[in-house]
Amino acid sequence: MEISPAALEPRQMHKLIIGSVVPRPIAWVSTISAEGRTNLAPFSFFNGVCASPPTLSLSFSYNPERPDHKKDSLRNIEATGEFVINVAAEPQQETMHATSGDFDIQVSEIERFGLTTAPSVRVTPPRILESPIQFECRLLQIIPVGEGRGSATLVLGTVEHIHVDDHLIDDDYHIDIRALKPIGRLAGNSYCYVHEIFDLGPR
Ligand SMILES: Cc1cc2nc3c(=O)[nH]c(=O)nc-3n(C[C@H](O)[C@H](O)[C@H](O)COP(=O)(O)O)c2cc1C
Repeated sequence: MEISPAALEPRQMHKLIIGSVVPRPIAWVSTISAEGRTNLAPFSFFNGVCASPPTLSLSFSYNPERPDHKKDSLRNIEATGEFVINVAAEPQQETMHATSGDFDIQVSEIERFGLTTAPSVRVTPPRILESPIQFECRLLQIIPVGEGRGSATLVLGTVEHIHVDDHLIDDDYHIDIRALKPIGRLAGNSYCYVHEIFDLGPR
């Protein structure tokens, strides 16, 4: 099939992208509002950008449900300039999925789902101890991409502090991916495990 994006509705293009750009890692993002309310939600338009400065990216979709068209996480990041990316892994899969519900801004998903938090070292939002790796981030740049349905806001964050469960990392900063047990997002409500890892020879 040959497809011209211009001929597609945003929701059709969205389906095509989420079904083709797979699997996607999952950032479980904790933020705090200007009023001091905590928030937690998963985001899979998430990636590493570069190591120096250490930079991660998140993309927040246009939210037709809210008057300002923003997800609570984005609104909080804009207000405070801070967020924590908690890496989502197998033991948290059900809870992570449940925290994606469209809860009222007054609701803290952290309290609602009984998650354990600890203070962050460099930023105000708390980190989620159930997650094995937590990146404390400060907002670097907000990049609006498009307008209206299907559009998004790309957020770049500088990593200011990292917490890694001791059993996952060696003295040379290798992460034990089998022990990390990350999960990947596919399309719709589908996910995948990283259970078959293979190596290729030297290049
Ligand atoms: C695994 C998973 C990944 C998601 N990835 C994204 C994403 O990359 N961008 C986005 O805007 N929404 C994404 N969502 C939807 C948000 O989690 C959902 O809209 C949530 O209610 C946002 O919460 P907030 O308003 O508290 O920020 C994802 C949902 C799930 C379950």
